[in-house]
Amino acid sequence: MSRPDVVDNVAALRARIQDWRRDGLRVAMVPTMGALHEGHLSLIRIAREKAQRSVVSIFVNPTQFAPSEDLDKYPRQLARDLDMLATVKADLAFTPTVGAMYPAGFATKISVGGPTAGLESDFRPTFFEGVATVVAKLFLQATPDYAVFGEKDYQQLCVVRQLCCDLDLPVGIIGAPTIRDAHGLAMSSRNAYLGEAELAVARQLNAILRKAAAAMSTGAPQDDATGEASRALIAAGFQKIDYVEARESLTLAPWRRDRAGRLLAAAWLGKTRLIDNVDVPTA
Ligand code: PAF
Repeated sequence: MSRPDVVDNVAALRARIQDWRRDGLRVAMVPTMGALHEGHLSLIRIAREKAQRSVVSIFVNPTQFAPSEDLDKYPRQLARDLDMLATVKADLAFTPTVGAMYPAGFATKISVGGPTAGLESDFRPTFFEGVATVVAKLFLQATPDYAVFGEKDYQQLCVVRQLCCDLDLPVGIIGAPTIRDAHGLAMSSRNAYLGEAELAVARQLNAILRKAAAAMSTGAPQDDATGEASRALIAAGFQKIDYVEARESLTLAPWRRDRAGRLLAAAWLGKTRLIDNVDVPTA
């Protein structure tokens, strides 16, 4: 198994993608911040099914971190990431520097409306601006036919769809199911921050959300079900709940019982903030 080729600048990325295009090959991209895990590998497998060539960006994007957040301690492990990419036969890794993505004088921000309202934005007000700006740059740099994003970051997936729709970016966005450990914990690079005891608590998040979603789909009022879920999370050992909230699954508008729903949550375990979401089945 050989590691993918690595390019660290836009000119080299474009040259490689032009070669592929000349040969009539389609390209699928998986944007990541590295610290790859099985969840990312599942996205790359989907990318490889969708197109003949795959490119994975590895870039810890500073503009989506608030000053109080974990930019400095976010895990960076490029050699290990490249070994993991070899196992799924990714074709190319794009590893730009911060200076290449945001040269001196960089002054543009993309602000998406619609699905950015509430949820993550209430707690990370500049997050989606950073995500939308870097994703738009990556798409314009790599010009992929498809890009794959995990449903684990459900609001982000909806925001990227809105971005492509509004700016006519010709990239087919594919949402991929969340990969979980045997206990239901969604794979996340930030799980690396959790100690043993915290891991045991974290593993209860998904079951608590599924119980609330099932109650809602069989008629429980949303506030009762989400209130009960918040209490259960605190009882399990989470210290602080940012939100437990149901939204319409396509638009992220407030949930209505007759529409397909998604129950989304963010909660703190010590210094680690975990997010997850589950389907709210229609009755
Ligand atoms: O989900 C992520 O890892 C990041 O938000 C993304 C989409 C790569 C943008 O930096």
